[in-house]
Amino acid sequence: MSARLTAAPQPSVRVRAPGKVNLALRVGPVGSDGYHPLATIFQAVSLFEEVTATQTAPGSGISLTVSGPQADAVPTDASNLAWRAAALLAERTGLAADVRLHITKGVPVAGGMAGGSADAAAALLACDTLWDAGLPRPELVEMAAELGADVPFSLLGHTAVGTGRGDLLTPAMTRGEFHWCFGTQREGLPTPSVFRRFDELAGPSTPEVGPAADDTELMHALRAGDAVALGKALHNDLEAAALDLRPELAAVLQVATDSGALGVVVSGSGPTVAALGRSRQHALALGAAWTAADVVDAVWCATGPAAGTQVVTSVSR
Ligand code: C5P
Repeated sequence: MSARLTAAPQPSVRVRAPGKVNLALRVGPVGSDGYHPLATIFQAVSLFEEVTATQTAPGSGISLTVSGPQADAVPTDASNLAWRAAALLAERTGLAADVRLHITKGVPVAGGMAGGSADAAAALLACDTLWDAGLPRPELVEMAAELGADVPFSLLGHTAVGTGRGDLLTPAMTRGEFHWCFGTQREGLPTPSVFRRFDELAGPSTPEVGPAADDTELMHALRAGDAVALGKALHNDLEAAALDLRPELAAVLQVATDSGALGVVVSGSGPTVAALGRSRQHALALGAAWTAADVVDAVWCATGPAAGTQVVTSVSR
């Protein structure tokens, strides 16, 4: 008789969280807290960050590794949003922060698609599940908002209207699937720099944004599943600032327009450019046109809306 001695796997939880594109992004004048009031419409897309949280020995603390495209551009210390999410959850629940986090990147880094925010949302849910904290959803959402303005939307997913800093969310009705192609640049644009340039360009004349700011047609297009109307309604107040910091983005917008994109817009604070295709094939063709024109460093095709942050697998003791 032979005894098979295999170590039991450590408890672990794998969670995935989507990146996003802002279909509309309207920005008001900067407030005394340094943040800008926003009226935005987020759509989650099928580019996902995966975070695996594995239980480690008591007293071992938090550790973090990253793999996937552009992994070397991501910090692996306490400045990483996923690390901060685990630490915040431990602090609020009084549980020991003993966990190994591994991030598999699937969203462009520093591209205006909230990849870091997706990591934070995924780490929150992964640690909540791993540690059996069982926090009510509203508490997770509150912590998410503390970690960053885009983190609550990554938890929620699908399509939503965001106000406040972009963290106060109302789900939006949509029909069907939209086909996106994203053109990314090797060098990202820091979000604070883009907002700062927005302030410099807009000056003190920036109008206030209201919750119902000008996006009636866009909401109607979403409800009707009308990609042509959606393409016409895409809008980003940060686009001029991103273009001012990166004039070469103008060519990215132009190539997609010339290739028949239904709409083209800088995603969030950029430098990623989002182009809306008529179909999956057309989205792929838009990516091919960018590559042929040599105006982007990488092309990522995806569909939206995508589901919010969810547990993929969970191995318990
Ligand atoms: O909240 P988060 O850390 O993602 O924001 C990064 C930076 O982007 C902020 O420090 C701020 O400079 C800018 N920001 C802003 N207004 C918002 C969201 C972000 O000015 N509504």
